[in-house]
Amino acid sequence: MVEIFLASRNAKKIAEMERILGATLPGLHVLGLDDVAAYEEPVEDQPDFAGNALLKARAGLEATGLPSLADDSGLCVDALNGMPGVLSARWSGPPKSDDRNNALLLAQLEDVHDERRGAQFRCAVALVRRDASGQVVEDVVEGVMPGRVIREQRGTGGFGYDVVFVPDEQEGSLTSAEMTAEAKDAISHRGKSLRAIAPIVTEAFSD
Ligand code: IMP
Repeated sequence: MVEIFLASRNAKKIAEMERILGATLPGLHVLGLDDVAAYEEPVEDQPDFAGNALLKARAGLEATGLPSLADDSGLCVDALNGMPGVLSARWSGPPKSDDRNNALLLAQLEDVHDERRGAQFRCAVALVRRDASGQVVEDVVEGVMPGRVIREQRGTGGFGYDVVFVPDEQEGSLTSAEMTAEAKDAISHRGKSLRAIAPIVTEAFSD
């Protein structure tokens, strides 16, 4: 059996990764943080998503010895110079709250004209592993979902900022919280980055 580690406790993310990677690596088993001995997880203090994903994947390899994947994602708003970015989850301060984050974001953009409300969800996925000679090899890919922030909250699906975000790559003007999970996956930052890392993982296991 082929095993890979994903530095996450999110069962949905783990299942999604196993599904996407399993298409090219049958029998692959993705272990999450709850499947391995506890270790000290790094503080996500990097200025960009790739940096944080690499930190988490490096710690995963060190702790488990397994090829390790990690992701980091967030919303980058043009009118806020790319913020909340890596601060997306905690934009309105502790304790983490999607409702407060969305209310704060809408208030911050209240005076911003419709044509200047562009934003992108971004997701970086890192793979850190040892090659056949024991050398550490690092890869990072990034996926982007461009769109815009609307003026109200719409929809009940998804999570985080989905209720205020309308992706560009669709026929209508649904928020990502109004799309089906499959429709969002097909165009999402996370879907794109997971699909981009899949051939790199396959290649790594054929070393
Ligand atoms: P994480 O990388 O899964 O920890 O996500 C960081 C934060 O970015 C989340 O808490 C959300 O606020 C935001 N975020 C990331 N991806 C999405 C998404 O697909 N929809 C809505 N919010 C997202």
